[in-house]
Amino acid sequence: MPTYNAIAIRVDFNVPISGGTIMDTTRIDAALPEIKYWLTKASQITLISHFGRPQGMEEKYSLRPIARYLSSVLKTDIPLLVNWPMTDTHPSSPIRLAENIRFFQEEEQNDQHFCQQIAKYIDLYVFEAFAVAHRHHASTLGVMQYVPVVWGSQFRGEVNKLREIYQSGRRVLVLGGAKTASKIGLLKGLIPQVDTIMLGGLMGQTFLRARDGQGEGFEPASCDSARAMLDLAKHHGVEVLLPVDGLTKSGEAMVVPFQEPAFDIGEKTLTHWLSICAQTDQVIWNGPLGMFEDSKFQATATFAKGLARIKGDVMIGGGETLSVIDKAMRLRYHYVSTGGGAFLYFLEHGEFPCQLLVKRNYA
Ligand code: 3PG
Repeated sequence: MPTYNAIAIRVDFNVPISGGTIMDTTRIDAALPEIKYWLTKASQITLISHFGRPQGMEEKYSLRPIARYLSSVLKTDIPLLVNWPMTDTHPSSPIRLAENIRFFQEEEQNDQHFCQQIAKYIDLYVFEAFAVAHRHHASTLGVMQYVPVVWGSQFRGEVNKLREIYQSGRRVLVLGGAKTASKIGLLKGLIPQVDTIMLGGLMGQTFLRARDGQGEGFEPASCDSARAMLDLAKHHGVEVLLPVDGLTKSGEAMVVPFQEPAFDIGEKTLTHWLSICAQTDQVIWNGPLGMFEDSKFQATATFAKGLARIKGDVMIGGGETLSVIDKAMRLRYHYVSTGGGAFLYFLEHGEFPCQLLVKRNYA
């Protein structure tokens, strides 16, 4: 006899999808044990996730490919609830996937009425979405005011692992990827905790522009905050390493200052960064160093292979970076997280907003 009537599990299925094909299933697979556990304990499960950053109901951000993948791995039909939580149209299926929660603007606004609408369908909320736990959204925070919460096993495992990370020795932080604005925000708290910072991808080019006042391929809106971070790093005696060379869109080598956007870091930068990482006690890495999806741009994959050979502890925060890491390499690292921004947030703050809320409400 199931213990619960209806539960919701907040997962993070924000995985790379290209032309309807899921390129890396790590985050989905990591949530499967928790989903299987609750299949025996609840009469009905609704899985909730976001995907990308849609502006309203954009079909390209639909969770349909994920519903198909889940149906095949769980060997049961998993319908997609298109208008949930506004209406519940599949009352009979024991497990369903709610369509991208970010199709509703109320999600990111953490709208309290929306939170109550979600809560009204369920008697338990299982939180298994480590990778998005740093957001102040309805499904990652607000709804937990209205329904009892249980932390999923993957979430607990990630949090416990990150708490264990020692703070001594030389630390290198490597950041890349495109989410420049949100990662710069996290840098503020991380700068005092590390010795060296390496910045690639759009981040690197934005910092080059902020430092040198020249170069292309940067995010204009983030230049001022990048400059402030360079000052903060200087204040704390933290070395900031930016690319010295890169590759053009057609794969030609170029040096700083870039006359056009760089699609990857160059050979010289890669060799230098790997040699510094080889001499440090701990490397924390999040975000690709270039356009790794294109075979012309291999620095991210080469960097990942190089880190698998160093003596120090390597911790990698997920998202896109996970797709360049194979199983053999994964075993060589100290830790690979499913979270990208969340992983950095936790290193900085030691607790997520939802954990604080639940502690306050149920203390
Ligand atoms: C991620 O991929 O880092 C998480 O799913 C969070 O996504 P977001 O940065 O769009 O909130």
